[in-house]
Amino acid sequence: MTSPSTQLLDGKATAAAVRVEVQAATAALRDAHGLQPGLTVVLVGEDPASQVYVRNKDRAATEAGFQVDTVRLPATASQEELHAVVDRLNADPAVHGILVQLPLPAGLDSDAVIDRLDPAKDVDGLSPRSVAAWTLGRPGHRPCTPAGCLELMARYGLEVAGKHLVVIGRSMLVGKPIATLALERNATVTICHSRTQGLEDHCRRADILVAAVGRERMVKADWIRPGAVVLDVGINRGADGKLCGDVDTEAAMGVAGWITPVPGGVGPMTIAMLLRNTLCAAAASAGADGEALLAGAAGVAAG
Ligand code: GUN
Repeated sequence: MTSPSTQLLDGKATAAAVRVEVQAATAALRDAHGLQPGLTVVLVGEDPASQVYVRNKDRAATEAGFQVDTVRLPATASQEELHAVVDRLNADPAVHGILVQLPLPAGLDSDAVIDRLDPAKDVDGLSPRSVAAWTLGRPGHRPCTPAGCLELMARYGLEVAGKHLVVIGRSMLVGKPIATLALERNATVTICHSRTQGLEDHCRRADILVAAVGRERMVKADWIRPGAVVLDVGINRGADGKLCGDVDTEAAMGVAGWITPVPGGVGPMTIAMLLRNTLCAAAASAGADGEALLAGAAGVAAG
């Protein structure tokens, strides 16, 4: 049963609006600087979920007007081969954004690959220089999933300042950066993980609960404070074969104030933020301000 008291945060529609802005900013960049943003995704191996993500990124970036390329390497590729690809892309002036799809197949050292990325092209915001930038609150690329979560809330007018954000999961892709970015926006943050004691009690104190664990329907309705904002980052294949998140969404309806569906919630926002980061990287390479181009495009879209 869907309760009318819980509202959906429609990531698909919101991401579509962001993508229209990126498309307009891309046209403005082309007109002013004769430059087309270039995004290259590096995909190693045959992981089916990664293949789907990469296809979706490819489609969205092409629609935005970017030059998109995917470099595919077999799961048997060596560390040196992968480094050679990154070095080549770092040196290519037509490539403004590089995304190495994670996780890499077993045996490859993802840290060494990420360390090698030119921070200006690290549109995932994962390289040490990028991490330093978002931790210190300095200019640089912000990781796409946390940035997408915050953008989604902002576009629904949901306040972060002064709220208690609780995130389950401490990954570099979600848990750590969302805590840092929310703190920068004056939230009070709690990071929970596999060794946290009293997990359910922490969750019940959340004004904003972020689930980023990768475990099907782990967060139960009675872990959610009535009226809380619930951001479900998980994408799992349920026992019934359907995609589901880390939250028992059906049960959470009528308890949460707002919730992201899976699919159609956080996932599309991640891709939209990747496009924004790439547009900004391209603009910066020409000495232009990508944020200003995006703001101009958003202003036109708003009329
Ligand atoms: N795998 C799952 N999500 C992501 C992401 O945001 N970036 C990268 N590089 N790999 C991922």
